[in-house]
Amino acid sequence: MATQQQNGQVAPAKGKLGVMVVGLGAVATTMIAGVEAVRRGLAKPIGSLTQMGTIRLGKRTENQSPLIKDFVPLADLNDIVFTGWDIFEDNVYESAAHAEVLKPQILAQLKPYLETIKPMPAVFDQFYVKRLHGTHVKKGKNKRELADQVIADIREFRKKVDRVVMIWCGSTEIFMEPTAVHQSIEAFEKGLETSDAGIAPSQIYAYAALSEGVPFANGAPNLTVDIPALVELSKRNAAPICGKDFKTGQTFMKTVLAPAFKARMLGVNGWFSTNILGNRDGEVLDDPQSFKTKEESKLGSLEYIFQPELYPDLYKDIYHKIRINYYPPRGDEKEAWDNIDIFGWLGYPMQLKVNFLCRDSILAAPVALDLVLFLDLAKRAPQLASLGVQEWLSFYLKSPQTTDGLYPEHDLFIQSMKLKNTLRHVMGAELITHLGLEYYD
Ligand SMILES: NC(=O)c1ccc[n+]([C@@H]2O[C@H](COP(=O)([O-])OP(=O)(O)OC[C@H]3O[C@@H](n4cnc5c(N)ncnc54)[C@H](O)[C@@H]3O)[C@@H](O)[C@H]2O)c1
Repeated sequence: MATQQQNGQVAPAKGKLGVMVVGLGAVATTMIAGVEAVRRGLAKPIGSLTQMGTIRLGKRTENQSPLIKDFVPLADLNDIVFTGWDIFEDNVYESAAHAEVLKPQILAQLKPYLETIKPMPAVFDQFYVKRLHGTHVKKGKNKRELADQVIADIREFRKKVDRVVMIWCGSTEIFMEPTAVHQSIEAFEKGLETSDAGIAPSQIYAYAALSEGVPFANGAPNLTVDIPALVELSKRNAAPICGKDFKTGQTFMKTVLAPAFKARMLGVNGWFSTNILGNRDGEVLDDPQSFKTKEESKLGSLEYIFQPELYPDLYKDIYHKIRINYYPPRGDEKEAWDNIDIFGWLGYPMQLKVNFLCRDSILAAPVALDLVLFLDLAKRAPQLASLGVQEWLSFYLKSPQTTDGLYPEHDLFIQSMKLKNTLRHVMGAELITHLGLEYYD
């Protein structure tokens, strides 16, 4: 167990945690309604590691597996206060009803609370999300003024809460690559003054958060904080960041299956993934420029897991194809199919088919909640906050973020071990290697 002195290195979660959500759509409203349902004892926080997960401490023979939330000082769900921004004026109840993820009966029970959360006007520009027309938006003479308005929103909210975390649950923006404006804080700030086209709305929110020392999570595949300027700002202000794009459905399964094939040295020569979904996210992804952003994020995992440079006989020529089809009748109830062409002993071919009938926002809501709670923890753990990038949160993300020159870990089980060992480490507990020889002494 942790020593008293080491425990003291993580500040306690005292008072209220303010959660500022950018984009109050399907995922965000499912998270907010879910937290309120759990607070009232109407449902269980299934899918949330911070709420349901345990962590083994010491030897297997010691039988010590406390709940994670009892081991590390996480904010209590009762201490969370939500606010947010959206380009539409709908309050959280109206938006949740529109998203049709949760049943009307449960929403009706939560209505008085959900109606109190009304979005603040958003920073938005249709250039970056072609399929949306925002009406509830901030105005300013340049991007600097818009960033200042978000900073003012954060400062106003801070008067009501003790700590703040920001999470992007907004739409997928068009595909963008880093340019000169992203290379340093100075260049970025100059770009805000001149309204450089390289600065997307998500980056204006992230800049505002990090400038204020507020941790920032990115649920979408947007470039956002994946640029030197914002990594630098995150470090400078000890405001944790953690990668992008919630790992929920198809990529979650990919990062489970691919490590299994690799562990057994089974070859793969093709992986075809297709999806149908009919929510607003699906509509936004129907635009080729937003789809490209998502595609890049989804493609990365296999390349890193299979390490074709180490195993050319097994993985050198994988044909990896991803399709997302907007199909309105399905709403949030996405269906994903994978056809995986594998080969075994002496090269004999086999196939595996995966058909995942999932619910997008039901999978994403606990991921968003955990990211918020763990980023708040990281902010209170000086040895984590000073790093800026929190690689240990890769577990939750399709595109993990790492320090320069380090390849990301996509294997879900390596990510899970990394996460739990990080928690043991910050609490001064012994790391678990799974070596296990000591039991046979
Ligand atoms: N649900 C999943 O399993 C999953 C997995 C990975 C990533 N994501 C990503 O999470 C994000 C949210 O997904 P969703 O299903 O809730 O989508 P959604 O379309 O229901 O919600 C997005 C909300 O963001 C708002 N928005 C867009 N631009 C904004 C801006 N600049 N400022 C403020 N609000 C803005 C929209 O009006 C909308 O209400 C998407 O980018 C999606 O790709 C979702």
